[in-house]
Amino acid sequence: MSFNVIDANLAAKLISKEKNFKIVVLADTHIGGRTAYLPSGCKHERGEEHPQTIHQKKMEKNLLKELRKIGKIDVVVFLGDMIDGRNTKAGGLDIGNTNTDVQLNWAMLFAKSVLDILEPKYVLGLSGSDYHVESTMDKSFLHRISLHYPEIEVFYGDNLKFILGDKLWYLAHRFIEGASKGGTLERYWNKFCTKTWGRERTPDVIGYGHVHQAQNPHQIKNGSNPVYGFVCPAQKLPDSFCGKGSQGTFWEIGFMYLKQKGRKLKGEYINTYEYWNVKQ
Ligand SMILES: [Fe+2]
Ligand SMILES: [Fe+2]
Repeated sequence: MSFNVIDANLAAKLISKEKNFKIVVLADTHIGGRTAYLPSGCKHERGEEHPQTIHQKKMEKNLLKELRKIGKIDVVVFLGDMIDGRNTKAGGLDIGNTNTDVQLNWAMLFAKSVLDILEPKYVLGLSGSDYHVESTMDKSFLHRISLHYPEIEVFYGDNLKFILGDKLWYLAHRFIEGASKGGTLERYWNKFCTKTWGRERTPDVIGYGHVHQAQNPHQIKNGSNPVYGFVCPAQKLPDSFCGKGSQGTFWEIGFMYLKQKGRKLKGEYINTYEYWNVKQ
């Protein structure tokens, strides 16, 4: 078993010196939530089945179909809020089962279906929003993965700061408060680097989830040391609690497929479900 904790306050963790990587990033599956991703075969405490809705069936079918097209890769990242927890922000409503042990079992069915297709060498994960994952659910999820797949090197942190080949990556579940989805990633990066980053080497890649919207990886700083940014979409349909605020007006469902070649990073958001055709 290999379970490594990353402390983003310390020097960046060296994961691999290889030059080229294929990377899949998944975020905000919110497993346990009624409108969220749900793998097939989920059971409650007493063994009775928790059936998928039509949408959950299609979401699973489409996601696995797209992942099969990609096949074997190097790195899988779970960018937080993979489990819905007790969802205290919404008074604990809209959850298929509030028992977090049961949710963890359901999340493992999801993880296995993904990892058996992608067969990564490394799995990285970080902590999602407190009101969903209560600081520990994503950690337990990553820990369970490391137990089930002793051949995979698993890394976990509240935020992830690591070196992959030529690049220093910095991943967090969400943007720092006060600098979020309204602005461009370029503007965000400038603010982030001048206000919160120390004097050490600044990241070459930044990535976030949480907003349930996708931004393809793109160069946010040019020059000989380019910086890339991306925002990972969700695997969850809007629920009855969204659409009132700024969030929920435009949700995107899918994942990120990235290719790092030396200093270059390319990739795209792969859409796996068209939620806007769905009446909730
Ligand atoms: Fe989320
Ligand atoms: Fe979140």
